[in-house]
Amino acid sequence: MRSNPNIVVTGTPGVGKTTHAELLARNTGLKHLSINDIVKTEKCHEGWDDELETWIVDEDKLLDTLEDLVAPGGQILDWHACDLFPVRWVDLVVVVRCDSTILYDRLTARGYKGKKLEENMDAEIMQVLLEEARESYEKEIVVELRSDTAEEVEGNVERIEAWITQWKKDREDEEKK
Ligand SMILES: Nc1ncnc2c1ncn2[C@@H]1O[C@H](COP(=O)(O)OP(=O)(O)OP(=O)(O)O)[C@@H](O)[C@H]1O
Ligand SMILES: [Mg+2]
Repeated sequence: MRSNPNIVVTGTPGVGKTTHAELLARNTGLKHLSINDIVKTEKCHEGWDDELETWIVDEDKLLDTLEDLVAPGGQILDWHACDLFPVRWVDLVVVVRCDSTILYDRLTARGYKGKKLEENMDAEIMQVLLEEARESYEKEIVVELRSDTAEEVEGNVERIEAWITQWKKDREDEEKK
């Protein structure tokens, strides 16, 4: 049994996943796993998609690479998808959301344009990641958190910390039975 939870932080590109994951890792000692970085460094991909300007992910290789990392628990999985992570790995799914006007500004500031900008904007407006999370995991473990402002990030991370404390307490109570 894990003594620390595994937490998926997901959402459309630019909503603030990494911002949340880094602050949460700093405050709790949980480990931030940037799946984008792992895909690159461990070469869990089949090349580069020129049109979408993104890696074509080899999901089997990625899951093999992650298996040993997530087994002990205490990992924050930061990625713009969530449905490939096995249910047994995951204790909480945080779907980070952002106002679409704010997201548009963040993505254009990063140089996103054309199809890539359009697809990401549509995904946020259609709440694709929230639906994906709700379809893939028990609804009790899926939470949607808003990330328009820096204050909201702090509030969200405090909420997740409180959730972690409760998760650990529940485990301890369970063990005493
Ligand atoms: N709540 C917020 N308030 C203000 N700025 C934010 C907020 N969340 C994120 N940002 C800013 O928006 C940009 C994107 O944030 P971040 O890198 O955390 O997004 P991401 O979801 O990890 O994106 P990607 O999917 O591309 O990795 C950064 O410049 C970050 O500082
Ligand atoms: Mg990120």
